[in-house]
Amino acid sequence: MSTTITIKHLSKHFGTVVALDDVSLVIEPETFVTLLGPSGCGKTTLLRCVAGLEDPDGGEIYVGNKLVFSHPQGISLPPGQRELGLVFQNYALWPHMKVDKNITFALEIQKMPKVEMQKRVKESLQEVQMEGYEDRYPREMSGGQQQRIALARMLAYRPKVFLMDEPLSNLDARLRMDMRVELKRLHHISGATTIYVTHDQVEALTMSTTIAVMKEGRLQQFDTPDKIYHFPSNLFVADFIGNPKVNLLDGVVSGKNSVDLGKFKIPINTSYATGKVVVGIRPEDITIFERPEPGAVEFSAYSVLPAGADSTIIARLGEMELTIRVMGISKIRMDEKIWLKFDPQTLNLYDKESGLLIAS
Ligand SMILES: Nc1ncnc2c1ncn2[C@@H]1O[C@H](COP(=O)(O)OP(=O)(O)O)[C@@H](O)[C@H]1O
Ligand SMILES: [Mg+2]
Repeated sequence: MSTTITIKHLSKHFGTVVALDDVSLVIEPETFVTLLGPSGCGKTTLLRCVAGLEDPDGGEIYVGNKLVFSHPQGISLPPGQRELGLVFQNYALWPHMKVDKNITFALEIQKMPKVEMQKRVKESLQEVQMEGYEDRYPREMSGGQQQRIALARMLAYRPKVFLMDEPLSNLDARLRMDMRVELKRLHHISGATTIYVTHDQVEALTMSTTIAVMKEGRLQQFDTPDKIYHFPSNLFVADFIGNPKVNLLDGVVSGKNSVDLGKFKIPINTSYATGKVVVGIRPEDITIFERPEPGAVEFSAYSVLPAGADSTIIARLGEMELTIRVMGISKIRMDEKIWLKFDPQTLNLYDKESGLLIAS
């Protein structure tokens, strides 16, 4: 039922800007794939190329077995012939149409019977908790409400593939969370292949089957959220994913099973690493002790930031600064001595020069 989307060696330039640089990925049927990366990395361009709103200047795109774009063969099917959903973006409502008309517009073009259209309007408004807004114009609603109507319109259309470009970006934190819940349910129920653009790493981690991390038009890693979080393939991905950020420490491999960080050494469990490395340690993977402990290193608590469910502690040792995350409200006080322990199982080593993950 659902569709595979295959992207092969896609590239796109805007003048001298390289928006996409040899991007290849296979989006499996029924998966929720997120294009993730900082502003300007090419996410929207990639989505628009798949939708047929932009012509790449190299590469090929298949929807199922259908070749919808090929630069070498000079093929570019218009959006309507690609059997994909509309690209759903912020404020994409027609300003001069009321809500119900906004939702039925695309369905009328398909010549859907009126009874069925009204049913779809009702159902889709229910799905986004906007029942009773059929007669409003977009300007008579808040930005968040407009986005929910835009989402309802997309739901009503029931495409085989959902294409969404930062659909929740204008919502406040609470509503964004609610909408993530609903979007994830929607994907779970419909099973429709989804390509979802966001620059929000938490959103990507929470929503996706697979995440494509991009930087400057290049694909950095295409993997499950678990792999992206625990085994970022390079320093860019490691640094981009996670809040608070990963600790990245310069070191030199000394002997077979340890890295020298200058002030102290920490154990590692790989024999592949040599020379200059960067050690990546997630804040929650450091254990804090409030008294000396064998194998733990003495630091000072520079700042303690309790946030209810968890606390962030900034620890310092000379120039070195580490971020640690603990569950609950930390009892540690600022400027107290603390002892930190590192688990070789949880840290990642990167080659200093290439920035690439060294196999463990
Ligand atoms: N129509 C366009 N004309 C010129 N440059 C563009 C155009 N669209 C995108 N770009 C440039 O291409 C790069 C990628 O843009 P975009 O795909 O919108 O990034 P993202 O969605 O990740 O923020 C950026 O440098 C952007 O300025
Ligand atoms: Mg964009």
